Amino acid sequence: MTVGTQIRFPAHLAHPFSPAGRADPYPAYDWLRARAPVHYDAASRLWLVTGHADCAAVLRDQGFSASAGQQGRARDEELPPSMLTTDPPDHTRLRAPGLLLLGPAAIASVAEAIAADVDGLLDRLAERSVVDAVAEIGGPLATSVFLRLFGLAESDRKVFAQLAQAASINLDPLAGPQVAALGRSAMGELTRFLDAHCASAPPSPLARLAADDRLSRPEMLGVLGLAVVGGWQPLAEAIGNALYWLLPRPEALAALREGGREPARVAMDELLRLEAPIPFTARVATRNVALPGGQVPQGARVLAIVAAANRDPAVFERAGELVLDRTPNPHLAFGGGPHFCLAAQLVRQTGAVLLARLAERFPAASLADPEPAWAGTLIPRRLRALPVRLGGGDAY
Ligand code: HEM
Repeated sequence: MTVGTQIRFPAHLAHPFSPAGRADPYPAYDWLRARAPVHYDAASRLWLVTGHADCAAVLRDQGFSASAGQQGRARDEELPPSMLTTDPPDHTRLRAPGLLLLGPAAIASVAEAIAADVDGLLDRLAERSVVDAVAEIGGPLATSVFLRLFGLAESDRKVFAQLAQAASINLDPLAGPQVAALGRSAMGELTRFLDAHCASAPPSPLARLAADDRLSRPEMLGVLGLAVVGGWQPLAEAIGNALYWLLPRPEALAALREGGREPARVAMDELLRLEAPIPFTARVATRNVALPGGQVPQGARVLAIVAAANRDPAVFERAGELVLDRTPNPHLAFGGGPHFCLAAQLVRQTGAVLLARLAERFPAASLADPEPAWAGTLIPRRLRALPVRLGGGDAY
């Protein structure tokens, strides 16, 4: 069995958390996965887990605590424990009512409205020669999804989007004290906004959740706050990340155009595999654990690097390539085990509608900047901007 501590990270590769590594962490991930899939990183004092079997085990094994792993995030001071920051049995109690908001019935109830929002959004952009897919497609689409999900009015769009954007700071584990303080205050404001709307919510998943007596009011607000912080920006950025891979490949766009919704759903999973918006998640080992690729000691702070696991050649053929019809696709971009993303179906459904409609309406869509810059944040992995030429036309 490999003992990760004995292997040194080579000087010629950018550390995945360094500025160069954040722009392109995959060479470092490939190196680690091949030589030390369970590796103690002295620079960050974290155990970096990069193999698919190892990450899947970390996410599922009860020897790893999410509650301890997520401690210290700024959002925790403004919110009661949420399902992401608890372990069973508390986690099980908090997650069950979450299905009122994100279960199959709730998602089906907003599907048509979200599809109409996608059409409206593309209509408004159709006249433009170049648009920024991050700010003008991903962001507004994510806001539409939450407005529908929570039963909020279109007039709430601007305030909600500002609050969601500000609260998303809490995702970044490397945010400095000043930025973290801003994130805390944004979280408080978002919680007060949601609290006020719960009181007057029209019939909607939000109203059903608010009326459910399995959760106290603060716990219910914790579920909602977590959904916004954990979902709004990852969903927004997933769209830019997906188009970054898709648009330079006209044959992929053509396949989507001809295939429609179901192939687009399969494609969305593949795009999330290649460019996971949440590249890793933290846990703490509550005992010594033997993973397939190495051992971690009790108390170890562990990162399950799903972005590395998603390109493990032991599981995925042509792991670094876009294989649009890849099935099965056991990627870990939505996590795994008890904390598996509660909104995975919503994300697949929304992404599939967007991709299918965009491919249909803009068959010649292309990147206006072939080398867009990645943002410096670790979570979510996101592009600063993605200028896209929808139908040809003027230069950017
Ligand atoms: C592309 C978009 C998204 C990605 C990649 C994503 C990914 C993830 C991942 C990796 C986890 C597990 C975290 C862990 O194990 O520590 C998670 C959990 C979660 N996600 Fe998502 N997510 C996305 C969108 C959303 C959206 C839109 C929502 C809400 C509307 C949402 C709600 C949640 C919730 C509530 C949890 C916690 C589940 C639990 O702890 O039991 N996510 N997500």
